[in-house]
Amino acid sequence: MRNIRKDRKKEHIEYFLKSSHEQSTLFEDVYLEHNALPELDFEEIKTNTTFLGKSVDYPIMINAITGGTDFSREINRTLSKLALKFNIPMAVGSQTIGIHEECSRESFEIVRENIKDGVVIGNLSANATIDEVKAAIDMIEADAIQLHLNAAQELVMREGDRRFKGLFKNIENIVKNIDVPIIIKEVGFGISKDVAVRLYDAGIRYIDVSGAGGTNFIEIEGRRDVKKDFSDIYTWGIPTAMSLIQCSNIKDDLKIISSGGIEDSIDVVKSLCIGAHMVGISGEILRRILEGGYDSAYKYLDEMTYKLKMLMLLLGKANIEGLRNTPYKIKGELKELVDN
Ligand code: FNR
Repeated sequence: MRNIRKDRKKEHIEYFLKSSHEQSTLFEDVYLEHNALPELDFEEIKTNTTFLGKSVDYPIMINAITGGTDFSREINRTLSKLALKFNIPMAVGSQTIGIHEECSRESFEIVRENIKDGVVIGNLSANATIDEVKAAIDMIEADAIQLHLNAAQELVMREGDRRFKGLFKNIENIVKNIDVPIIIKEVGFGISKDVAVRLYDAGIRYIDVSGAGGTNFIEIEGRRDVKKDFSDIYTWGIPTAMSLIQCSNIKDDLKIISSGGIEDSIDVVKSLCIGAHMVGISGEILRRILEGGYDSAYKYLDEMTYKLKMLMLLLGKANIEGLRNTPYKIKGELKELVDN
């Protein structure tokens, strides 16, 4: 018999690999000034930071991707080995399948087993019930739970949700009844200032902007549905850099995670300069694993972390807090969007 949830998980990865890159994060419109006289030694550069109450070695995290099938278990095994090796946080993919299908739990549990005391983050839709949220947290002893907002994705999916009323109340209710931090995230279309302010007022203190410019679920779901053509709206969404600028100065205790199209060290550095506390990567690390397994993804992260340190030195910043206070300029399309 067909298992829709499992088939969908497989198809997401298959169509992710076939998708093109029609949007831009607009990080190319962020300008950082080189410091030719930094007065720092490379050894002095410290990339560690605190996230969700734990110390991590870099402000970089593996963001939600998968879980639930045998193939997902292997991907999660590799991702969690990398998270342990670099001491960085990792979020699992949506755990609905793990809650409702006993046999798929192991593909999530393996992440906590491998990461030991490191930061592990759960993931569900923002329309989850309190019981589902508690079950997802228990499954992996989660340090926090991500709740995703994905109206654009659902509307393209033939089997997707069509009802989005009541989500805000549900989020408020979850905040009141769950005692681990709640992270509200998009899945690649960005969070506006207005939405971020409403979420803050509901008690949310962590927002993952997951903006446009990377993985595109209108395209991924659109390619799964051969009967309708969604290609005219592949460019929908708030570019990641724009979403970050909008959300990062709302309140000091609102922590912003930059994600959506993060590919290299310069995207990481620009995200932090704009004000992000953490930078999440999904698509690019998945691509490395599918192309060359653990070794290829290890090389990717190893080079990225070296270049993070290198760019910190070239900006004259010895630690992440200093980097977060680096002045930056914006130009081009990003400036037009911000000024309007
Ligand atoms: C995702 N993403 C995702 N997000 C989420 O909240 N729950 C999920 O189950 C999934 N599943 C998933 C599968 C695959 C194959 C990909 C590539 C992505 C979205 C992800 O966490 C992130 O928000 C977006 O992909 C944007 O970041 P990148 O991919 O551009 O770095």
